[in-house]
Amino acid sequence: MATNVLCGKLETISLRATELCVRTFRGLSFLPNKLQDHQECRQRSKTVTSYYNQSGIDIAAAKPSVRLTPATILYSGKSPDDSHLLRSAQYLHKELPVRIAHRIASFRNLPFIVGCNPTILAVHELYIRAFHILSEFPPVTDLTIENNYSALLKELLDDHKDVVTDLATGFRESRKHIRDEGLVKEFLDRTLCSRLGIRMLAEHHIALHQEDMPNHVGIINTSLRLKDVIEKWSEFVTKLSQHKYGKAPSIKLNGHVNAAFPYIQLPLDYILPELLKNSVRATVESHLDSPESNLPPISITIATNDLDFVIRISDRGGGIQQALMKEVMQYHFTTAGSNTDHRIDGGLFGNMMDVATDGPAAAPMHGFGFGLPTSCAYAEYLGGKLTLESMQGIGTDVYLRLRHIDGKHDSFRI
Ligand SMILES: Nc1ncnc2c1ncn2[C@@H]1O[C@H](COP(=O)(O)OP(=O)(O)OP(=O)(O)O)[C@@H](O)[C@H]1O
Ligand SMILES: [Mg+2]
Repeated sequence: MATNVLCGKLETISLRATELCVRTFRGLSFLPNKLQDHQECRQRSKTVTSYYNQSGIDIAAAKPSVRLTPATILYSGKSPDDSHLLRSAQYLHKELPVRIAHRIASFRNLPFIVGCNPTILAVHELYIRAFHILSEFPPVTDLTIENNYSALLKELLDDHKDVVTDLATGFRESRKHIRDEGLVKEFLDRTLCSRLGIRMLAEHHIALHQEDMPNHVGIINTSLRLKDVIEKWSEFVTKLSQHKYGKAPSIKLNGHVNAAFPYIQLPLDYILPELLKNSVRATVESHLDSPESNLPPISITIATNDLDFVIRISDRGGGIQQALMKEVMQYHFTTAGSNTDHRIDGGLFGNMMDVATDGPAAAPMHGFGFGLPTSCAYAEYLGGKLTLESMQGIGTDVYLRLRHIDGKHDSFRI
């Protein structure tokens, strides 16, 4: 309703004026509390003074992004005089405003009524603010400035931590206005992958400061054991399941369980909990009458070779109907909440996600229908792919295939 009133007022203004809505919304106090709090709390963040005068954003958006391979980052090395920190900050100082400007440009290209959704506008404004803060930061010429720059990156990472949930909420709220699903998919794929890239770069820079991380060059673990990462997320999802249902299937690992190679854990920390949550949910929901000891285990197989590695998650959670195989990869497709059994109250993992954790899966992503499409987009961004094989009536096999980053073959660019 608020959106209609607002858009009625602004109907003569072009599509690119979505930023203007933010300002008008502010005046009308329609913005979500979170954004208002954010504005009050973040004194240091500059208020965007003009939504029209965005020539800085236009100029940056016209520049190409310079994407690095993980191997470049891995082999760029550490200098005893810490000049690697300066070089890294100088690269980010140039690169981040360009990437953020690209994102702002894609917010501007959203259909007007969708871009007017208050939650989507709030994210749009977050990006505008980040652009101004980062592009107005002085050149990083010494290590004191570099330290301040790192602190700023930390704050921005924190400011943007809920972006995925906010976009999921915003696009769900504006569903009735969306004519072209493809457009939204393209927007979300690009925005979420770009966000992953920006976060990897920022986290990498911050991690370069940490001396106490054995086997690490920034965020790259030079000897990552997949087994450890999988076990960490298995424990996490098991706890969620026990909290929600009072039971959880066991999760068994096999294959190349001792494999260790250079990789970045961060994207795995996004993808693995999503895939495991799905398998655990399917297993428990299709065996509601079985005691925990009778739940069919989830089996995870690791396979690694020169070029890539594969994680296969096999569950016996009843599988996915053939007719739905494409849909499950669409944003917002979910069967959460569709089961009428009283033992599954609403979006199953809904309550489960209330369990406090500090991992990425702690975000309230339950039942948004975001787990698979986001994981799929991330896998492709990482030069790999996510595929599903379903044996309807029995279970599902999910294959996550990702490329090695050791520099022997092409991997991906961050
Ligand atoms: N292993 C699986 N077995 C059976 N069905 C699955 C499995 N994985 C996914 N699905 C189906 O695909 C749908 C979409 O999955 P997706 O992870 O994208 O969203 P969600 O789990 O419903 O919500 P979210 O992941 O955002 O919390 C699920 O609702 C479920 O119906
Ligand atoms: Mg899911």
